[in-house]
Amino acid sequence: MFSPTLFTLFTLLPLALSAPLLGRGDDNENKTPTTPLSIGDLESKFLRSAQFTRVAYCSSKAVTNWQCGGPCDDIGKGVKVIQAGGDDGLVPMYFVAHDPTDNSIVVAHQGTDPFKLLSIVNDAEFLLKDLNTTLITSGKDKGIQVHDGFQDTFERTADEVLDAVKRGMNDFNTTKVHVSGHSLGAAIATLDSLMLKQQLDKSVGLTTTVFGMPRTGNQEFADFVDAMLGSSFTRITNQNDPVPRVPPQLIGYHHASGEVFIKSVDSNGQATDVVQCPGQENENCGTGNDLKITSIPNHLGPYFDDISFSEFACPL
Ligand SMILES: *[C@@H]1O[C@H](CO)[C@@H](O)[C@H](O)[C@H]1NC(C)=O
Ligand SMILES: *[C@@H]1O[C@H](CO)[C@@H](O)[C@H](O)[C@H]1NC(C)=O
Repeated sequence: MFSPTLFTLFTLLPLALSAPLLGRGDDNENKTPTTPLSIGDLESKFLRSAQFTRVAYCSSKAVTNWQCGGPCDDIGKGVKVIQAGGDDGLVPMYFVAHDPTDNSIVVAHQGTDPFKLLSIVNDAEFLLKDLNTTLITSGKDKGIQVHDGFQDTFERTADEVLDAVKRGMNDFNTTKVHVSGHSLGAAIATLDSLMLKQQLDKSVGLTTTVFGMPRTGNQEFADFVDAMLGSSFTRITNQNDPVPRVPPQLIGYHHASGEVFIKSVDSNGQATDVVQCPGQENENCGTGNDLKITSIPNHLGPYFDDISFSEFACPL
């Protein structure tokens, strides 16, 4: 049963491997030194987003009632779910909620099984397509292209996410929005944030924190993410996870800035060495990993605070 996905993995990785050799000149490589990020800062900035993202793997019913076992209990009581949807298939699960802790609206997207993801990035929808600028109007005429399959998935929930965020901001009188997601959900979360940045008032405090994100668009897309979201966008990568290295740069894909790279995690699931990686595709971080050493489990976690992303922690 694993043969098609393993086939995908083994056909895709050599392509990605060749990218640094063929895709870019040495002059363009980003080797800017990294700066350490303390575990305290990592937790204070990103733990809550990681916890909400983990909840997105649980069933909509469990999430709506905020009874999803450990993942919900770790966040605590008082969260009001505004909208929960998805079918764990064509439409990955997601929810929009109010977090009373800092009076914010949170949007969180689950990912997909990494074998499935690696097959999505390698299948017929591999090609870059023009950005749909219906909801992201300032992306017009900039040559922005994104992965067709990721964009299709974003479009399936974009309208309801936008609607639920607006409703939540109104009902709870808040102008703070935190968007997060893992894996395929990281790509969707990033597209959501571009949409929200465009559609909501300029005064809205929007942050985006994504985990194990695959490359989602071309160089113009990466530049657009930098311009629209800037330092409010953080992309956390874990050790030897292969997913952030696909689709390869060789065929035109490029990551935005904002990477935080976890270099090691101890046996308690706590990150022990974490760095911030200036610029796009920093060779000192995920981009520079040796492609012969990959770990699918690193895609799931643990990232820090023993947080892994899968439905295993949810009630049946
Ligand atoms: C673009 O996205 C909107 C929803 O945001 C959707 O209604 C429309 O069909 C999409 N356009 C294309 C060409 O896919
Ligand atoms: C909403 O929040 C603003 C700013 O925090 C405050 O000035 C206003 O009174 C609040 N409105 C309501 C209806 O609570």
